[in-house]
Amino acid sequence: MAEMTFEAFDALLRSRHSCRAFTDEAVSRADIEAILKAAQRVPSWCNAQPWKVEITEKPETDRLREALFAHAQDAPYAPEIDWPERYSGVHQWRRKTCGLQLYDSVGITRGDRAASGAQMLENFRLFGAPHMALITAPAELGPYAYLDCGGFVTGFTLAAQARGVGSIPQAAVAAYAPFLRDWFGIGEDRVILCGIAFGRAADAPINQFRTERAPLTEWVTWHGKTEEDAT
Ligand SMILES: Cc1cc2nc3c(=O)[nH]c(=O)nc-3n(C[C@H](O)[C@H](O)[C@H](O)COP(=O)(O)O)c2cc1C
Repeated sequence: MAEMTFEAFDALLRSRHSCRAFTDEAVSRADIEAILKAAQRVPSWCNAQPWKVEITEKPETDRLREALFAHAQDAPYAPEIDWPERYSGVHQWRRKTCGLQLYDSVGITRGDRAASGAQMLENFRLFGAPHMALITAPAELGPYAYLDCGGFVTGFTLAAQARGVGSIPQAAVAAYAPFLRDWFGIGEDRVILCGIAFGRAADAPINQFRTERAPLTEWVTWHGKTEEDAT
């Protein structure tokens, strides 16, 4: 087995970021297959591997982009899994911070709702990506399959990064689940979870900012050793 150092893996994790501007260049079928085969190595309960993936290539991606963007102008949101009821406390703060970073990066000032709304709608243009992957889970397996698919999404984004491909998971597109269900002919036995837009990252301001991560003290509780023993 080829050895990979912790440092190399950590560097991969740190180099990945959500990409919101892409070049037009298609990712080859061979590269996409390599990414998918790597991503499917993630664990899943009972090794059920519950994910299924619809992948678009050009010109189909452009057809979808145009239709989804048009649909998003006035269709009501209809996600199939519950969106967060609210973000409060630290979650609200983190959400706000990354939103401000995003809008700052493209020069949208706080309170400019027209501009931030227009930027949000870029989700439905798939941020200009040449490909999108739609992730679905079997309805009968319930939330643990969603957990497994979340792992797959992470595996996909990391494998893509390692292959020089930028990506962004998109819950936003799942807001129009009925549209996507029709478009891809997805049966009622599957639940639409999210999309992933992917392609080569463009050299654009929106791709320059990096989100922060909380210190361990904010989210880890140790049980067992006292603090002195642990050092
Ligand atoms: C399940 C999931 C859904 C997401 N949906 C969206 C989305 O709809 N639109 C968007 O711009 N970013 C979306 N993101 C990207 C997050 O905003 C991003 O991962 C987070 O701010 C951390 O930044 P980073 O990915 O650059 O490290 C999503 C991420 C995940 C994991």
